[in-house]
Amino acid sequence: MRALRSLAVALPLLAACASTTPGADRLAEFPLSERAAAPTPASRSTRAAFAQLGPGINFGNMLEAPTEGAWGSRVQDNYPAMVWQAGFRHVRLPVRWSAHASRDANATIDAAFMARVDSVVTRLLDQGFIVVLNMHHYRQLDGDRLDSGEFAVDPDVVRPRLLAMWRQIAVHFAGRSDRLWFEIYNEPHGAQTAPAWNDLASRALRVVRGTNPERVVVIGPVRWNSADALAELALPADAHLVATVHDYQPFRFTHQQASWAGGEVAHMHGVLCCDVEQRRQLTRPLDIAQRWAAEHDVPMWLGEFGAYGGPAGSPNDMTSRAEYTRLVRTAAEERGLAWTYWELDSGFGAYDPRAQAWREPLLKALVPAP
Ligand code: BGC
Repeated sequence: MRALRSLAVALPLLAACASTTPGADRLAEFPLSERAAAPTPASRSTRAAFAQLGPGINFGNMLEAPTEGAWGSRVQDNYPAMVWQAGFRHVRLPVRWSAHASRDANATIDAAFMARVDSVVTRLLDQGFIVVLNMHHYRQLDGDRLDSGEFAVDPDVVRPRLLAMWRQIAVHFAGRSDRLWFEIYNEPHGAQTAPAWNDLASRALRVVRGTNPERVVVIGPVRWNSADALAELALPADAHLVATVHDYQPFRFTHQQASWAGGEVAHMHGVLCCDVEQRRQLTRPLDIAQRWAAEHDVPMWLGEFGAYGGPAGSPNDMTSRAEYTRLVRTAAEERGLAWTYWELDSGFGAYDPRAQAWREPLLKALVPAP
């Protein structure tokens, strides 16, 4: 009796202590997935879905800008049909959910934004594409500086917000075609160290699985989805996963003049591609990714590669860009990796929205005529 009474006193005290660390408190709402000593070999249905991906392109700088249009690109109504006719069969759709959700741990997604994403996903699915819907540029999650047009949230709710957003996205799209895939988060880095990211991805997958038991989910390693970080990726026990890496090597070529690249690369100009050393650099991550995929029997997807076109008035060499694009695309295919070009109509664009025409050298490098 006495023991029970002291427990009755202790419990509210414990609860009060826990509530001083609200972030930890909220994370406990989202349990981990089942752990696995090694990745689970992909199911037959996941491998079959992966085999259907075909040529792919990122609808980049559109819905992952702080607001659609802020970076000069929008998902135009004619894009799904135009991209399909060009020969692409899957689209990766980057989305900055975090800028369209409430600042609290519930991260309630703005209904109008959800409707906009829904309309794009629906049009792409109706066109016949496989669509990979992701979460992109949640700057605070990585500990990055915010973009203009973004807001900061209480550090304690940063990680719970990702999980709360995934709960809503998963519920919203639960009944959709199995041609819709989810990708938990683009390029985790910085504050997302391997232990932090493995923990968060595991919780996010469990949230998604609550409503989408067999949907293909994509998870990649830390350090901006670097193949070198695959060894630190701990995938939960789940047979419907696809792994992803990004490859922008040789970086001095792909990111010359790119202001966001930082350091000396941002000021480089006139770097051509691709000599023997550059070819070695661009295939190395793909070799690592291929080995990891073979070892674990998990399909591997090159979710981004591409070469920046340069600022207005100072274009980077198109012959080199096309050669780089062809080399990475064919090297990925030779290694059994699916690939998705970064991106459709912006700085890396395979399509020129002003001329309303494909940049033929890039398109040919991606989707050679039959
Ligand atoms: C980022 C883009 C960037 C691209 C190339 C992507 O992952 O989301 O903002 O343009 O990488 O650097």
